[in-house]
Amino acid sequence: MKISVKVPATTANIGPGFDSLGMALPLYNTITIEETVLPGTGIEINVLNDTASTDDFVLEHIPMDENSIIYKAVELLYNSIGQNPSELKITVQSQIPIARGLGSSASVIVGGLLAANELLGRPADEVALLSIATEVEGHPDNVTPAIVGGLVLSSQEDDGRIIYTKLDWPDEWDITVCVPDYELSTDISRSVLPVEVPMADAVFNAKRMGMFVQAVNTKDPELMKLALQDKLHQPYRMKLVPGLDKIIENLKHEENVLGCVLSGAGPSILIISQKNNLDKIKSIVKDTWENLNVKANIMTLPVEKQGAQIITQE
Ligand code: HSE
Repeated sequence: MKISVKVPATTANIGPGFDSLGMALPLYNTITIEETVLPGTGIEINVLNDTASTDDFVLEHIPMDENSIIYKAVELLYNSIGQNPSELKITVQSQIPIARGLGSSASVIVGGLLAANELLGRPADEVALLSIATEVEGHPDNVTPAIVGGLVLSSQEDDGRIIYTKLDWPDEWDITVCVPDYELSTDISRSVLPVEVPMADAVFNAKRMGMFVQAVNTKDPELMKLALQDKLHQPYRMKLVPGLDKIIENLKHEENVLGCVLSGAGPSILIISQKNNLDKIKSIVKDTWENLNVKANIMTLPVEKQGAQIITQE
C-alpha cells in the first residue's frame, strides 16, 4: 500500500502569538509512505525538490535531522499501538522552502504521521495526531494549522493535549510573504531567546493577543496595527535577520500596511496590508534587501483553509 498526503506551509507567531498563533498557506509538501515488500530493507527516506516542471525533480537527500523528524513522528505513532515501523519508503516532494520560517519541518512531521496513520487503519484520532506532532516539533503553532488549515490559536495544555480554536482571517487583508535567499534554523533562532522575560513585556504581549483576536473578529485595521507587535521573540531575533529593522522602518509610514512581522522563527517576513499598494510594498522589501545583497522571493498568498489532505491510496 502507498499513501500520499499533501500538507500546506504554515506561518507562526504572527506578531504577538509566540508559539501559539499559526496560519496555513498555499505552498505544499507531499509526503508519500509506501510499504516495501522486501523484508529487511528497513526505512528509506528521500526528498525531491519541486522545480518548475513536475517531471523534473532533483533528487536531494535532506540532512539527517530532517530525516529523523519524519522517522520520529512515524515511530511514535507505531509505538502508540505497540508496534515498530519497518520496511517503509518515505518520499517528500518539497515545495516549501526549508529553514525559512514557513513550516517545512511541521509539514513533513504531519505528512509522515497522517500517511502512517492511514497505513495502520487510522488508530489515532485528531487529538492524538496533534499531540504526537507537537511532541516532535516542540510547539503546536505550525503543526496545528498544517493539520486543520486556516488561522489557528493553539495551546499545549499541562496534560500534553493540544487545544485549538480557529479564527476567520478577513479577506480584505493581504498576506505578503517575503522569503530571503538564506536559511535560518529554528534551533539557532530559539537559542537567542531568553529563558525569562520582564513582566512588562509579558503583559505587553498578553494585551496584543487580545487585540489580535478582536481585530480579526471585527476586521478592525487600526486595532490590528496595534496588535501586530511583539516583545517576546522578535527583538531578540532581529540580529539574525539583517534588514528586518530597516524593512519595518521603511514600511511604517506606508498607508495600508497593518504590520510587518517575522514568519515563525524567521528569516522570512510577513507583511499584513489592506488591498491596493502591494507593488509599492514589494519594491520596498526588495530594495531594502538588495542593498544588503539579499535576494528574495516575495509572494502575496491567501490563507489556505484546508489542512493536510490524503491525495492517493493504492
Ligand atoms: N513559534 C516557533 C518559534 C515557530 O518562533 O520558534 C518556529 O517554527
